[in-house]
Amino acid sequence: MEDSYFGAGGATAPQMPPQTPAPPAYPPSARLRANAPEPDAGSDDAPGKNKMGPTGRPWPNLPEPGPATGGPARTVAMVNQKGGVGKTTTTINLGAALAEHGRKVLLVDFDPQGSLSVGLGLQPNEIELTVYNLLMERDITLQDVVVPSGIDNVDLLPANIDLSAAEVQLVQEVAREQTLARALAPAVANYDVILIDCQPSLGLLTVNALTASDSVVVPLECEYFALRGVALLKDTIDKVQERLNPRLQIDGILGTMYDSRTMHSREVMETLVNGWGDRVFHSVIRRTVKFADSTVVGEPITEYASSSTGADSYRMLAKEVLARWQRDA
Ligand SMILES: Nc1ncnc2c1ncn2[C@@H]1O[C@H](COP(=O)(O)OP(=O)(O)OP(=O)(O)O)[C@@H](O)[C@H]1O
Ligand SMILES: [Mg+2]
Repeated sequence: MEDSYFGAGGATAPQMPPQTPAPPAYPPSARLRANAPEPDAGSDDAPGKNKMGPTGRPWPNLPEPGPATGGPARTVAMVNQKGGVGKTTTTINLGAALAEHGRKVLLVDFDPQGSLSVGLGLQPNEIELTVYNLLMERDITLQDVVVPSGIDNVDLLPANIDLSAAEVQLVQEVAREQTLARALAPAVANYDVILIDCQPSLGLLTVNALTASDSVVVPLECEYFALRGVALLKDTIDKVQERLNPRLQIDGILGTMYDSRTMHSREVMETLVNGWGDRVFHSVIRRTVKFADSTVVGEPITEYASSSTGADSYRMLAKEVLARWQRDA
């Protein structure tokens, strides 16, 4: 059984993750590849009336999102205890796509690996103040730590390896699970959407993210073994909902790294839809090297390769989540 915060009747021993090192200089070829054709740009990506989507269900008729209402921010955690499933990629690109719809977005790096911060061009060792300082030091305010992300209308609360110490130190705190919620409270009035990029674990940091959130998006690699962890994740979400945060909901499960050319991807998708029904997003993110390339240049795919399938899929996801949030409101 994998570790969960609630698993053994208390906080699990925190694991020290490796810090993402500053990336080495990279040849400029990634920039040149931005508009190269994609081998798996399947025709089922473009939504259309009565057209079958990649999840085996007809595309829904989604309304064009209206303007931001200026209400309190919707806080959403990107969670999956499995590593490398697209949590950070989804945080950056969904954030950028929501900003294209006029939403003011705060991205929260809540992973000591600091991949979100690095993916937006920050050098982990040069960040002066991080979410760690905000959590642990009473005189540090949100404005002290937030930096521009380089994407219009999107700010970033950065992190680095310091955050792994918070997992240890928070264990001693009163109301330790609510620490992030308290720290983010002032942001709720200033943003439309807050996206929290979690680390691949169900430990105390992730429980903090779930306690601070209205809802959860679960990126899930379209691969058989990826399905195995979902039950434990659902159990953790249910326990946080029961014990710490009654408003917590699952927005949806997002199939990532999908390859329509393989039977395997299609079968995993079918299994997901059979088990989770409507909670599986119609939007599916295909496997394409353009995501890795866009990280090299430190841009969301919506800017790096604006007309690519990957960019369109995240734009579609943005429309889908906005429609769900409106429906759930
Ligand atoms: N749809 C995709 N197609 C191909 N590669 C992808 C896709 N999405 C993400 N990747 C790549 O896969 C790797 C892992 O993605 P990402 O960092 O978003 O996962 P993660 O869930 O945040 O990982 P971790 O659990 O370590 O935080 C990255 O190199 C990223 O560029
Ligand atoms: Mg990540």
